[in-house]
Amino acid sequence: MTNAERVERLERMRGESLLGGGPVRIERQHTWGKLTARERIDLLLDPGSFVELDAFVTHRSHEFGLGDQHFLGDGVVTGHGTIDGRLVFLFSQDFTVFGGSLSEAYAEKICKIMDRAMDVGAPVIGLNDSGGARIQEGVTSLAGYAWIFTRNVLSSGVIPQISVIMGPCAGGAVYSPAITDFTIMVDGTSYMFVTGPNVIKAVTHEEIDSDSLGGAMVHTTTSGVAHLAARDEAVALDHVRKLLSYLPQNNLEDPPRVETRDPVDRRDASLDSVIPDDPAKPYDMHDVIKAVVDDRDFFEIQPGWAANIIIGFARLGGRSVGIVAQQPAVLAGALDIEASVKGARFVRTCDAFNVPLVTFVDVPGFMPGVNQEHGGIIKHGAKLLYAYCEATVPKLAVITRKAYGGAYDVMSSKHVRGDINFAWPTAQIAVMGAEGAVNIIFKDQIAKAADPKAEHRRLVAEYEAQFDHPYIAASLGYIDEVILPSETRPRLIGALEMLKDKRQVNPRKKHGNIPL
Ligand code: HXC
Repeated sequence: MTNAERVERLERMRGESLLGGGPVRIERQHTWGKLTARERIDLLLDPGSFVELDAFVTHRSHEFGLGDQHFLGDGVVTGHGTIDGRLVFLFSQDFTVFGGSLSEAYAEKICKIMDRAMDVGAPVIGLNDSGGARIQEGVTSLAGYAWIFTRNVLSSGVIPQISVIMGPCAGGAVYSPAITDFTIMVDGTSYMFVTGPNVIKAVTHEEIDSDSLGGAMVHTTTSGVAHLAARDEAVALDHVRKLLSYLPQNNLEDPPRVETRDPVDRRDASLDSVIPDDPAKPYDMHDVIKAVVDDRDFFEIQPGWAANIIIGFARLGGRSVGIVAQQPAVLAGALDIEASVKGARFVRTCDAFNVPLVTFVDVPGFMPGVNQEHGGIIKHGAKLLYAYCEATVPKLAVITRKAYGGAYDVMSSKHVRGDINFAWPTAQIAVMGAEGAVNIIFKDQIAKAADPKAEHRRLVAEYEAQFDHPYIAASLGYIDEVILPSETRPRLIGALEMLKDKRQVNPRKKHGNIPL
């Protein structure tokens, strides 16, 4: 073979590998409103930055129906590139090749880039569009999944891992995204379930279609399995780029700082009147968050699930922060099972990746109810408590209104190693609200009173005067400073600056035993 022939052979193979499962299947992918594996990579990465690895890998199975079908790359495109100039590794499953199903060789390709990402400390992004384990390969493909799961776990908390679901993701295959830090789903074309509609119909006789069972809306509103839904693939990939902008490359680095024109000493007078006089009246905590953060830019995560707690990323003075906040407009901001789980996972994500936590507190307590108790609010609420206690990143809190009972302790209080705890003058820090307290401690006195209603009113007013303010906590040092709401932004930025070199180390152990 001449050298010219060798070059021609390489070029032919390169061209062939770009075609995946061929033009017909690519066309089919487009008709479904889906991009190809390579088109997705082009949209995600900085232009021209993609370096492909293992483009010539093919499967090794010659059994059961595969015949002579060999596609270069074997159904997954892997490699590295940059996003905003920062290195990322990625795999993009190619549905046009054997339905994107996972073979032994395919799993090895993914594991290779996961290992490289760990070696150099860079994020891994998985673009999922697959029929699951390659049926023809049997147990080797199951092994391949387990190799990936193991790497997902070992990488957890070391490098950011993001999954985007852009087609089917079924069976055990769902467990890789489930272990990664964030899962983003494309509305209308993606679904995730452990057992699909047919199996469910056979076993439980329930009838349901794929989208209603495991589509983007279900997983971002009902199950909480996914963090974000996107109306199309381009938006989903934008979400990945934005998410990464708040995160460091790995657990040994700090998140990148982004210059802002928003003045660090900006005060927002609207905050001074945001809390209604009536303590039972709701307000929207988004207004508070947006008034405080840089450029009013708040990237909310899981907005549609457990909306009584708000989580998301923002910047303060250019520094990345994780916001956790009660939403008084939903269930009065009470902590229920889902809110606790949502908050706990986010606190741990931020802590793992050195993102300081800013907590806005307006919490009447844990949610009462038989279903909450029987559903395990004790162990689920404990997750949030555990996460805050364990976190060593800078922890700032602002109590805007209620901080009652155990929920006061949980929400980044001084007693769980909160670093700087602010309260607004409207803060009410107590074991419980006035109504409940008076009904318990003065039950007999109220019953025996000549005018029980008047006595109740009098005692409530007395209790409010005594407890419904932040000054007892401030006198004990549990609140560092009572601030005007309008000063919140400069105060938080000042505290972050003071804490920028915070180093806190937890006792050495194999791992903690968070109540799962
Ligand atoms: C091999 C597969 C495949 C698979 C699809 N294909 N799934 N090949 N192994 N798992 C192939 C098809 O033969 C077809 O090949 C092409 O991919 C496209 O599939 P279609 O069925 O034509 O597409 P569509 O109608 O869109 O349906 C997509 C689908 C369906 C819903 C994903 O293909 C399907 O149900 N596949 C099986 C899903 C499954 O049960 N997987 C195993 C799950 S268990 P041609 O040549 O016609 O293009 C699992 C365990 C994980 O994954 C282990 C972890 C512990």
